[in-house]
Amino acid sequence: PLTVDTAAEGTKVSDRLYGVFYEDINHAADGGLYAELVQNRSFEYNATDEPSYTGLTAWSEVERGGGSVALSVASERPLNDNNRNYLRLDIAAPGEGVGVRNAGYNRGIPLRKGHEYDLSLYARRPAPGPITVTLESADGATVYGRARLQARSAEWKKYRATLTARGTTDAARLVVLAEGAGPVDLDMISLFPRETYKGRENGMREDIAEMIAALKPRFLRFPGGCVTNVGTYDPYSVRQDRRRIYQWKETIGPVEERPTNFNFWGYNQSYGIGYYEYFQFAEDIGAEPLPVLSVGVNGCGENRPLTDETALARYVQDTLDLIEFANGPVTSPWGKKRAELGHPKPFGLEYIGLGNEEIYPEFFANYPKFAQAIRAKHPDIKIISNSGQTSQGAWFDRMWSFAREQGADLVDEHYYNSPSWFLANNRRYDSYDRTGPKVFVGEYASQGNTFGNALAEASYLTGIERNSDVVELAAYAPLLANVDYVDWTPDLIWFDNDQVYGSPSYHVQRLFSRNVGERILPSAYTGEPLPQTPIRGAIGLGAWNTQVRYDDVKVTGAGGEVLLAEDFSAGAGAWTPGAGAWAVRDGGYEQTATVEDARSTAGSADWSDYTLEVTARKTGGAEG
Ligand code: AHR
Repeated sequence: PLTVDTAAEGTKVSDRLYGVFYEDINHAADGGLYAELVQNRSFEYNATDEPSYTGLTAWSEVERGGGSVALSVASERPLNDNNRNYLRLDIAAPGEGVGVRNAGYNRGIPLRKGHEYDLSLYARRPAPGPITVTLESADGATVYGRARLQARSAEWKKYRATLTARGTTDAARLVVLAEGAGPVDLDMISLFPRETYKGRENGMREDIAEMIAALKPRFLRFPGGCVTNVGTYDPYSVRQDRRRIYQWKETIGPVEERPTNFNFWGYNQSYGIGYYEYFQFAEDIGAEPLPVLSVGVNGCGENRPLTDETALARYVQDTLDLIEFANGPVTSPWGKKRAELGHPKPFGLEYIGLGNEEIYPEFFANYPKFAQAIRAKHPDIKIISNSGQTSQGAWFDRMWSFAREQGADLVDEHYYNSPSWFLANNRRYDSYDRTGPKVFVGEYASQGNTFGNALAEASYLTGIERNSDVVELAAYAPLLANVDYVDWTPDLIWFDNDQVYGSPSYHVQRLFSRNVGERILPSAYTGEPLPQTPIRGAIGLGAWNTQVRYDDVKVTGAGGEVLLAEDFSAGAGAWTPGAGAWAVRDGGYEQTATVEDARSTAGSADWSDYTLEVTARKTGGAEG
């Protein structure tokens, strides 16, 4: 029987317990939540960032009716200092039009019959002439919509048009054709569905945003984990060939003035969704905004501490400015900026995260500078320190001790463990100190996206709720994955260019988040153990980037059958760091891990031990 102590006071459940952790990983923003349909709209992809990129990635040449054109990516007299490249059409013969076709993301550009699409582009052409924009099938045989612009300016000028789709498809192309004499310069070629989440301009894709909103998240942690704290510290004006650290000031204002960046997860990030959009989105879904900023350390396998005091002082000031941007009156410099962008009312920021999985001792020197500056100027803001991943053992404990010494309000804990770990660790927080910082479980997932994983997480959440006096916030991670650009699995919400679905874990999150009790009363089960069912689980393997080949996979174990996912046995599987030891050797990966979930053919309800040996080879992409 199950007995519930209804006379007990029980544990009050945090009214902010369930939230989401958004990271721009797996093309979560561009090609995902960000509703922009054109890929590489500003021609900023480049091979120095990623060998498979060119300035014309996703674009191809179109010549119609005897036309002839040479395409190049040029940079003299650019649109502005932050948007350095543009497309030049050198027209040898105009024919019936020459120009480019954009392939969008995944299979192409999705269109719905009768719906409107807003096109905008910048053009510069010394000889005035028309520019025709069409939405077509890949072979050009079907035209879904057309608009004609008259480009008359010899200097950069923005043009707009609205196209109404005459059919439904998920594989259209955007074709931009110039007629008449060249050269013609084009930049920021953009196409948005008129319908975005809550009708916001430069907004979010409705279906994905609605999936997130349906979770009723109480907070939104953004803009990511490794995306926030890995990169060089140079501002854009000192352009680095590789990624710069995430700097919030680069991500606000007109989108054509936001410099793109090459992010930790190995792809170009337009910053079309920037800090203003994140704050706005948090407000739209009724969540507390929870930004995480770099404190000049790096992490996630990269050691690049910022020790120069002057440079560090700028990052400290940027952090204070962010708080002012979110909460300051319109009379303050950054509050004024927020008002100019369209939101005079403060966003009501209450939490700020300092660092993400900082695994280098420079954190102990840098963190206090940020924390003290925030305490002095904004004493009401709750400061979140971090502890890294539970798998980091002694380091994790040291980070916790440091957070206590520093008087942090919360500590951000991360873990990606097996379902059996989640089942076995239901009591993890029962013995946590109630007097120090609260816990923010900022990232967690059991490795795999099966029903068994979801069940293990559901079981674990009962332990989190029972300890919600010390666990104030918790978020599954990562939130989003584009099925064609997977850096990391498991993920909560999966999508392609026109479909979206939740993993089993999504439905567990939704169930718990939408049904939060006020108090958890003590309960006990006595009697026969409940019947056990073997749990079949995928081996949750994700990767720092997808360009890792598995050369050798060996599974040994005590009987039973181990199921390897098809693509994994084919040598293209994904990998979750933290599942075992990992190390970078000679610029490549060598990893070992343990299979903790497997199906037992013996029909046993017990867990069996298996060992998986993997030799992996890095073939390109981000370092890590
Ligand atoms: O959630 C994926 C990654 O896991 C995050 O970027 C990082 O914080 C953690 O290592």
